[in-house]
Amino acid sequence: MADLPLIVTEAHRTARTNLMFSLSAADKKIVVITSANPREGKSTTCANIGLTLAEMGANVLLVDADLRKPTLHKLFKIININGLSLILGGLIDDKEAINENVAEHLDVITSGMIPPNPAELLASGNMAAFLKNVSERYDYILIDTPPVNLVSDSLVFGDMVSGIIFIVRQGTTKHTDIVNSLRAIEMAQGKVLGFLKVGCAPKDDKAYNNYNYKYAYHKNPEKAPPASV
Ligand SMILES: Nc1ncnc2c1ncn2[C@@H]1O[C@H](COP(=O)(O)OP(=O)(O)O)[C@@H](O)[C@H]1O
Ligand SMILES: [Mg+2]
Repeated sequence: MADLPLIVTEAHRTARTNLMFSLSAADKKIVVITSANPREGKSTTCANIGLTLAEMGANVLLVDADLRKPTLHKLFKIININGLSLILGGLIDDKEAINENVAEHLDVITSGMIPPNPAELLASGNMAAFLKNVSERYDYILIDTPPVNLVSDSLVFGDMVSGIIFIVRQGTTKHTDIVNSLRAIEMAQGKVLGFLKVGCAPKDDKAYNNYNYKYAYHKNPEKAPPASV
């Protein structure tokens, strides 16, 4: 874990605590991480929040469901051969794809080979069966996904999952991006559990090194966060 290119900060731990509160009444703790656009910090955040949950002893599974531009195997420096696409294609069992103890209490399923039909695979009964299986073995399951405004992959999970954490990147994500994403999420009847603002270094603490996270709740998903996030 020491040589992973991941930095867990107090801000991640605050985000973790808020996520735990928002899921406290949920029967399952399966969360989709997404954002409007590419390179807004979805995968990095997914990995870091997973690490902070594992750090407190919860058994965590990270799933790379970005079957177009997978990243988790790079962040955790693991081989990406047996992964999610092969499970969903019925080629392997989920146990054959799990990378155990990538960090203490943290297992990872990489994307597997890039399939021709990601959205279809992710929306399939095989995905529902896979999530049902693994949810019996883990306290938290975090699913890394592609951006909402490019493809529908992150919106196909329906009630297979508890909800969505929506990443907004300081200085990058535009207000219209957020509005468009929230419309798409609403159309798909998705539930936003919280917004996470990434890349906002507080002036008074350089140690946060541009990894300050803010977590805000919006009971009404139509209420988009302010333009200058
Ligand atoms: N909080 C952050 N502060 C600064 N850079 C970040 C932060 N989170 C991610 N990055 C960087 O931004 C780039 C895109 O991150 P990534 O997590 O792969 O985004 P996405 O999954 O949304 O495409 C990477 O180079 C990553 O190291
Ligand atoms: Mg990513």
